[in-house]
Amino acid sequence: MTAKSGKKAAAKAENISETPPRATSKKPAPKSVSTAADRKAVKASVTEKVAAQSVGVAQAAPKAKAAPKAQAATKKPARKTVAKADKPGADGQNPFRATMRRSRAPEPATLVIFGVTGDLSRRKLLPAVFGLWQDGLLGSAFNIVGVGRQEMTDEEFKDYAIAALQESKETDTIQPGSLEKFRELLYYEFGEFGGDEVYNLVGKELDRAEAAHGGRKNALFYLSTPPSLFEPISNGLGRLGLCDQSEGWRRLVIEKPFGRDLASARELNAAIHESWDESQVYRIDHYLGKETVQNLMAIRFGNAIFEPLWNRGYVDHVQITASEDLGLEGRAGYYEEAGIVRDMLQNHLMQLFALTAMEAPAAFDADAIRDEKTKVLRAVKPIPRDRVDSVAVRGQYGAGSEDGQKVPGYRQEPGVKDESRTATYVAVKLEIDNWRWQGVPFFLRTGKRLPKKVTEIAVVFKRAPLGIFPGGLERNVLAFRIQPDEGVSLKFSSKSPGQEMELREVVMDFRYDAFGAQLESPYSRLLLDALIGDATLFPREDEVDHAWQIVSGILEAWNTAPDGDGDAPDFPNYAAGTWGPEEADELIGVDRRWRRL
Ligand code: BG6
Repeated sequence: MTAKSGKKAAAKAENISETPPRATSKKPAPKSVSTAADRKAVKASVTEKVAAQSVGVAQAAPKAKAAPKAQAATKKPARKTVAKADKPGADGQNPFRATMRRSRAPEPATLVIFGVTGDLSRRKLLPAVFGLWQDGLLGSAFNIVGVGRQEMTDEEFKDYAIAALQESKETDTIQPGSLEKFRELLYYEFGEFGGDEVYNLVGKELDRAEAAHGGRKNALFYLSTPPSLFEPISNGLGRLGLCDQSEGWRRLVIEKPFGRDLASARELNAAIHESWDESQVYRIDHYLGKETVQNLMAIRFGNAIFEPLWNRGYVDHVQITASEDLGLEGRAGYYEEAGIVRDMLQNHLMQLFALTAMEAPAAFDADAIRDEKTKVLRAVKPIPRDRVDSVAVRGQYGAGSEDGQKVPGYRQEPGVKDESRTATYVAVKLEIDNWRWQGVPFFLRTGKRLPKKVTEIAVVFKRAPLGIFPGGLERNVLAFRIQPDEGVSLKFSSKSPGQEMELREVVMDFRYDAFGAQLESPYSRLLLDALIGDATLFPREDEVDHAWQIVSGILEAWNTAPDGDGDAPDFPNYAAGTWGPEEADELIGVDRRWRRL
């Protein structure tokens, strides 16, 4: 077997390869799993298979609280996997979550969701709150007040919310009688966010909750609205004194994008701080709520073997990919304004980058971790406008096909302008000016309508210093699969069987589903953290500011480069269902290739 065919075989085994980057053929998409029950069945069968093959998860199980569960899950996979909701623990709770969180129950509180009739609230927030409540984590002294500009009675809102739970793919298995009880927790207020009336009504809801449940008037205000309303709502709550913590804690959760650019992010921060202390502000980035993103920290800082290699002495480069096969999904109004840089790069990808590159924090607490993330963001070489063309590539998809189906180009999506210059793909090379990473490029890429949905962080190591075997040397890769097929793999070379001393690449693979627990939604995790007052997974003001400083030059250069002029690419410049524009291959360089995922 030649080294080349060995490489192909390894690629086949792993389904991840460094094959030539322009090829656009792809494996058939995995069968989609449409209902929560189907998803559970799939998880169960996967877990069973993993356990049957005795994949090394039993040895890999963590020493922390979850370890006995994980080991038990490996022995009796089917039971544990369905235990999530179908087989509740003796106390009616999901045993996995209960173990992890019993010590983390929040105080009685009211959750106030502004923009409750919006897409995010319907698809993600309400199901997440329902899941937490059904698991017994929110107690009975808990209420949800939906706030919107749409006129609705409490009863109409209750119907709306219950229908949303029944429709959402994110809703946990519903226990008998749960919906009826959950319904009783729901209230609704409406009004214009610029005036005072709506905040008065919200204040009365907090009084009512206090009278009903006793205790303090704790409240979490979640701004799930278009970004233009963040400031008016934060001001309105402040004006009416609802940020005052003398009668209970008050916290503000703000969705992304936080600002349109550096200047507006600073203005928004300043406006918020007129009423709110930074300790009350929770800027949400749902990527930080993903279990496997947190696992990145666990693997880096919970093991001794990685740290010695985690630096410029051993790492050649790092690739961070967040690719999506979907297009706009009816969000043209938002996306035409945001584009890929504001939608994904400034927040989700910069967070993955910071977690990968930061130094070890002195403790696992909010400030220690956020200090380290901020430090590494601050050390990134700024990208001034005149350097943008050499370190960043943009793209917009044209018509193409996904899973064998023809799909329209971005400009043909409903609501998108015919001549739109909005980017749907970005690849960028970041360099860090510190001792650990000097000379090690970090390549980040994200795009819509790429061949598949996958998020991955790949640490690509330098080649061994001396090639004594035929066929050349490959680079080892430690890959963190954030989603789907969550897990961690290590690719290395091994002798292939036979007379010849031939090496081929093989993969050691840890799959997260071997734990036997279905991963919870990032929103559940983050909502619970905000209710508890744990800000570890929420970017702080200075982090957001530094992330903006890094990407602002890109936006400025791209917004001012006239259509098709100079280095501005003619859009569309990649077909839907391919891995983005060709210029991205030049960005990563001659001796490196984007991983084909
Ligand atoms: C959101 C973006 O923040 O993240 C969307 O606004 C994107 O455009 C989504 O599709 C991706 O999130 P996930 O969790 O599906 O990878």
